[in-house]
Amino acid sequence: MNCETLIRNANVLDGLGNAAELADVAFAGGSILAIEPSLRAKAAKIVEAEGLSLAPGFIDAHTHDDTSVIDTPEMLPKISQGVTTVIVGNCGISASPVRLEADPPDPMNLLGSRERFRYPSFSDYLKALESARPSTNVAALIGHTSLRNNHLDHLDRSATDSEIAAMRAELASALAAGAIGLSTGLAYANANAATTEEVLALAEALIGAHAVYTTHMRTETDAILDAMVEAFRIGDYAQSPVIISHLKCAGIANWGRSPEVLHSLDLARTTQQIGCDCYPYAAGSSTLDLKQVDERVRIEITWSTACPEAAGRTLAQIAADWKLSHLDAARRLQPAGAIYHSIDEHDMRRILAHPATMIGSDGLPWDKHPHPRLWGTYSRVLGRYCREEKLFSLPQAVRKMTSMPAQRFGLAHRGMIAEGYAADLVLFDPATIRDTATFADPIRPAAGIHSVWVNGTLSYTAQGLTGHRAGRFLPRERTEWVQ
Ligand code: ZN
Ligand code: CU
Repeated sequence: MNCETLIRNANVLDGLGNAAELADVAFAGGSILAIEPSLRAKAAKIVEAEGLSLAPGFIDAHTHDDTSVIDTPEMLPKISQGVTTVIVGNCGISASPVRLEADPPDPMNLLGSRERFRYPSFSDYLKALESARPSTNVAALIGHTSLRNNHLDHLDRSATDSEIAAMRAELASALAAGAIGLSTGLAYANANAATTEEVLALAEALIGAHAVYTTHMRTETDAILDAMVEAFRIGDYAQSPVIISHLKCAGIANWGRSPEVLHSLDLARTTQQIGCDCYPYAAGSSTLDLKQVDERVRIEITWSTACPEAAGRTLAQIAADWKLSHLDAARRLQPAGAIYHSIDEHDMRRILAHPATMIGSDGLPWDKHPHPRLWGTYSRVLGRYCREEKLFSLPQAVRKMTSMPAQRFGLAHRGMIAEGYAADLVLFDPATIRDTATFADPIRPAAGIHSVWVNGTLSYTAQGLTGHRAGRFLPRERTEWVQ
């Protein structure tokens, strides 16, 4: 056999959760040709893995990389942790289709300032993606808030029937062009006025499209169970799987509620296709929301337009300097972003370990002082939570970041090491992999990553970027849902 690259003596994790097996892996033309012990193959390049682990490239199930895949196509925060595919367009906000007449409404500003929104239609986005050729593959959700921005004059009300029809047509055409589904961010003010009926009517575009419904739910605090019921109802009506984004019990009053939240998830999973994603930190991050300002919660500022030097400082420090209450200081910082240490570590671990849970970073690539999840999520799951805390086995941890998201998002021939599958691969040392990004020092690459291939192209090594980028747009294909 002739191949481009032969990786010898790797501990191969297939992505399905099976135990690792020592084998050689050959690939060419972007696809895996063979996996066998002592493979006889002629290769242009041979990599001696010497027992390191070889896994399918990680799929980041929850990102806000919509504009960074085009404007910073090296995608260093992701490729450096072994991520080879990102799902963009989460939480109701996608970079396309978007037509702006002013600054992007909250929280669309998480995707960057106005000049980064250059894609009035989804096909404009696909063209830009093709010419940027990012390091990672990209699959795209269409955001409800982005559609509302295009068709409503004010976002503090529900859409009219004709506005919904216009949004639905725009969603349908993006789905026909390969978008993987619809996302909502109903907790945010600019989507919160949308009634369930508005979302139901919009989600009709999903029927028969083999697409998914993902949601940053209407609330993650006291009424979380009601918000879950709303999400399940929308998925049921749209005959589509539901993915609950960054499942958590937010706010001190809700600590300890993860068993009842997961119980409600499990109950619904007996009759519907439902999954969720989770990041491995006891702190969330988004725009600075006055409703979430709580003097008992440590809040760190990630960016502020009104006061750029506030990035990296705590709201408490800033409020003390200014001799203001936390709430008044937060008002003065607007628009701004923040990290909220408002999640209980035990709840987070319980959700992370649940069999329905995929790993998703929810990293915010444009934040000046970002939450460390942007650079650290994958190595933290494998180092801290798998190796050290033993929340799950290594094959199960890898499954949560590979075959599970591939199957759920309809990414055919991704997320597994198998013949004919894409050669998206990460070679790493399970004994040393760890996150080095911290809340104090968040812009730091993972340790323990040896090599990362995307579509068969070596894109990153322990020495850094190789200068070759081979990511593609991944249109939704039909795959089998796996609970
Ligand atoms: Zn969100
Ligand atoms: Cu998000």
